[in-house]
Amino acid sequence: MFPKTRLRRLRQNRAFRDLVAETDVSPRDLIYPVFVSEGHRQELCSLPGQYRESLASLPAVASRALDAGVPAILLFGIPRTRDEFASGAYDADGIVQRAVRAVKKEHEDLLVFTDVCMCQYQASGHCGVLREGRILNDASLPILSRIAVSHACAGADAVAPSDMMDGRVGAIREALDGAGHAMTPIISYAAKYASSFYGPFRDICSSAPVTGDRSTYQMDARNAVEALREVELDIAEGADIVMVKPALSYLDIICRVKARVDVPVMAYNVSGEYALIKAGAAAGVLDEDAAVREVLTSIRRAGADLIATYFALTYAEGL
Ligand code: PBG
Repeated sequence: MFPKTRLRRLRQNRAFRDLVAETDVSPRDLIYPVFVSEGHRQELCSLPGQYRESLASLPAVASRALDAGVPAILLFGIPRTRDEFASGAYDADGIVQRAVRAVKKEHEDLLVFTDVCMCQYQASGHCGVLREGRILNDASLPILSRIAVSHACAGADAVAPSDMMDGRVGAIREALDGAGHAMTPIISYAAKYASSFYGPFRDICSSAPVTGDRSTYQMDARNAVEALREVELDIAEGADIVMVKPALSYLDIICRVKARVDVPVMAYNVSGEYALIKAGAAAGVLDEDAAVREVLTSIRRAGADLIATYFALTYAEGL
């Protein structure tokens, strides 16, 4: 064929490259994860450039997201105290419930999603009920359901269970419907892997398990077929959007899930993935903006419709 076929013809200038680009990352595809506590606003050492927001500083973050064209935030609460029952997670005046109300009161148009889990609220740091060294699956479901309902009552636009207990999507769907929240979608962390890339998040939320690890409930990195079962089960139980997490070491999973299901697929570009780029940029060995563009593009190219990323605001504002 050569020299009839020259693939460089369509790469010769920016206009051609843009014309034939197969993938783009628009702010409307992004979800911005936000940490909130009852204390003061503070920059996070383990996630440079990100903050632990206060109830007072949160509305400004919401308006920044709206201005940048980012349609949604995903809230994580950092409670003052924890107990054996994770009661702070479903308290009507808990940190997340108050945060949701604070945002919705001022910015009704911003979508507010909430992480539904027990690990930040439970003394054990585990995502399910711990009894005698075991995580009890079925005993965790009513608590997770109660958390989800309390978030919906506070005004959350969608709930995102991240605990990886079996059957929780079905239990939460039933509880939401029973409490008059039939229109609240469930964004399921369907294929959530036991990953070292959650390190900065656990540091920020002090949510590392006190004993053991999460390998009896989060997925094993060696498995891909199992991720398809997780996703299909969650959809059968009523998940509206399914998530793969983390993103970068699991692009193959995103790709396989996208090929298999017909609900929107979300990927979570997690804290450790953010921290790596920040560290590379701080060391002077990476161009941060270019690296962020490349990473977000790769996640979209793999098949993610939506991306939760700590880069959401800076990326959208840089366009
Ligand atoms: C809670 C939860 C975690 C993350 C989101 N929800 C931590 C974990 O499972 O240990 C991680 C997010 C990130 O690293 O950015 N279960």
